[in-house]
Formats: sequence, structure tokens, C-alpha cells
Amino acid sequence: MADNNPFLPTFGTSPPMLAGRDGVVARFHRAFERGPAHPDYTMLISGVRGSGKTVMLNEAEDTALNLGWRVISVSASARDLCRQITNAALEHLRETEAGKPSRRISSMNVMGLGVAWTQQSTTGTGITVDLRSSLTSLAELLARKDTGLLLTVDEMQATERDEATELAVAIQHIARREMLPLAFVGAALPEIDETLLADRGMTFFQRCARARLLPLNQDETQTALALPVERAKGRIDHDALRLNVEASGGHPFTIQLLGYHSWEMAGPDRHITLKHARAGALESEQALLDQIVKPIWSSLSAMDRMFLQAMSIDDTDSEIHRIAERLGRSPNYVQNYRRRLIDAGAIEPAGRGKLRFTHQSMRPWLRSQQ
Ligand SMILES: Nc1ncnc2c1ncn2[C@@H]1O[C@H](COP(=O)(O)OP(=O)(O)OP(=O)(O)O)[C@@H](O)[C@H]1O
Ligand SMILES: [Mg+2]
Repeated sequence: MADNNPFLPTFGTSPPMLAGRDGVVARFHRAFERGPAHPDYTMLISGVRGSGKTVMLNEAEDTALNLGWRVISVSASARDLCRQITNAALEHLRETEAGKPSRRISSMNVMGLGVAWTQQSTTGTGITVDLRSSLTSLAELLARKDTGLLLTVDEMQATERDEATELAVAIQHIARREMLPLAFVGAALPEIDETLLADRGMTFFQRCARARLLPLNQDETQTALALPVERAKGRIDHDALRLNVEASGGHPFTIQLLGYHSWEMAGPDRHITLKHARAGALESEQALLDQIVKPIWSSLSAMDRMFLQAMSIDDTDSEIHRIAERLGRSPNYVQNYRRRLIDAGAIEPAGRGKLRFTHQSMRPWLRSQQ
């Protein structure tokens, strides 16, 4: 394996070339500079699996760190979300008071801190330090020092309802009511609109500014694939590049995967030809199935799955009225599932009344399942 491969097909790691997301990055930057009155000061990023949500949280965190802010970075898929944030806030308070430099405290760092702080914060006076009071104290201290705090929460769709409520109450109070410098960026799968956000108690999160991470367009995809090759002193033929652009559908994780395997196929020459791109695409297929297609499938309902199976009969894009016929349902009924499957990242609109699979490898895989 060539150790100079410029592509990174790993979840949560920033790509060699972050293509097509300048607009979102500029929004964080402006909001952090302007302060709590800016609408983008509390923001929710949504996108399908592998669209680059975690990477955008990293970008927001880097933006904040560059401004000298403190950062708390947690994932809602971990246990005790609010406790973790509280512990991180207490640690930041201690470090700020001790004059230590700003840094990011993530879920991983908090694990080690948890026990000590939990004990300390509940002994003595018997008062339990909660999320809101710890974040308020920290934001007040940072405001006096003319700096701020960014809280990022990944995998928001996995938040327990009680935790989400506690979090919403705290952020709303601090950033919106008290206008203290606590910025918030959350990331979630699009299904959050139908689950957590559909709840009436979730007004705060419903009203956060939104950024939806769509597939990259052709030019952006081309840049994401060609620039890393060029920077690594490699070459990619025009037809090879076109094949990769087409095959990726602008999906960021797939871009990294195709780029990675094409580069491996080219070997020490670092010259990617059409032959290498084709072989790379074949090589990518299994990883795509394991890391994207199967996880999507396992999150779907029985009816969602029947919809996809009905689509897999077609050799190219499917017409929605034909799918309705095959399922023996009305077109209106089927529309509902169309929306859900788009949000799940399984399918995409393909022009009037038509749909296509987001990941082309889903069709042969579905056929092989029957
Ligand atoms: N704008 C981009 N241009 C090129 N590659 C990107 C871009 N954004 C993300 N990637 C790459 O895509 C892959 C997936 O990114 P990331 O882990 O952030 O996705 P995600 O949306 O958080 O996925 P999941 O929902 O599974 O957590 C990574 O390898 C990353 O480097
Ligand atoms: Mg992620």
C-alpha cells in the first residue's frame, strides 16, 4: 500500500480538500465574530451518512479555536450527554481561571475527568452543579475576557429526549436570553426532522439556523478528486476523473473512497488512467456496501425496504407511479416513503416523477438479496 495516498476514506477525518462547503464555513465564522445576536450562532447541520457532518463540526471547532475560544465537542451517541458537557465546562472553568491556553475538550477527554468532577461538584455544600449553571458560569467568565465558547454535538438524532430538553433549556437561556458567548453547532441525520424535532417540546432546536449538506456538484467533486492528486505530485487522466466524478454522485465519503482506490491502483507511477479508475471503483464497492449501504438498510422499516426492492427491478431510474403499481398502493401513499428514503440517503430525485438510487451498488446488492 502506498503510504502517500492523499485520500482519506475514514469517517470523521477532515478531507485533503474540503470542497463545496465554503458557504457553511463562512456562516460559522461570521456568526462567531458577530456574537449571540447573529442567527447562525446556534445552528443545526443535517445530511445523509457520509455527507461530511462531523467534518463540518471539526471546521466549526477550528474556526472557534483560531478565534481563541474554548471548545466542547461531544457526541449524543455517548452516554450521559449533559453530564459530559457539564464536566467539560467545569474543566474549562478551572483552566480559564488558572490562565491555561484555550483548547478543545471532547467526549474522550471528559471520560477521564468525569469521576473527579462528579464527586467534587456534589460534595461540600451538597449542591449539584448542573449543565445550565456550569455553562452559564463559563460563558460569563469568557464574556468578561472578551472571548467565547463553542459547543458542538454530533449525532444529535441519537439524543435522549430528556437530555435534549435539558440541553435546549441551557443553550436557549445562555445564548439567546442572557446573550452570553455560547455558540452551538449540532449535526444530525435528516431523519431528526421526523423524530426528535417533530416533538412539540423541541422548539429551541426547531428554531436553530439550518445548514443542509447536499451532494457536491460536478465542479466541486472534480476539485475534491483532482486537487489532492495534483498536490501529491500525481496525475489523473481526464476520462478517469470523469468516471470517478460520475461514480461518486458527489457523495463526500464515496469521493474519498474512489480517490483512494484509484490512487492505489496507479501504484508508484502516480498516474491514474481509466483502467485504474475502473479497478478502483470495483475495489470501492465492498467498502461502500459495508459502510454505507448496509447501515442505511438496517435503519429502514419493512415498507421502506419493499419500496427499494420495487425500485431494484428497474435497470435505470425508476418512475414513481410504476413503484406504486408494484407495491399495490396509491401514488400519494408512496410519496410519503419517497421522502423518508431521500432523508435516509437511499434514493434521490431524478427529474419529474423519477427516482434513482443514491449509491449505485444498492441495486445489484438488493437483487442479490432476493
Ligand atoms: N466537502 C468534502 N469534500 C471532500 N471530502 C469530504 C468532504 N466532506 C467530507 N468529506 C469526506 O467524507 C467522509 C465522511 O465525512 P464525515 O465523517 O464528516 O461524514 P458524516 O456526515 O459525519 O457521516 P456519518 O453520518 O456516517 O457520521 C470523510 O472521509 C471526509 O474526509
Ligand atoms: Mg459523522
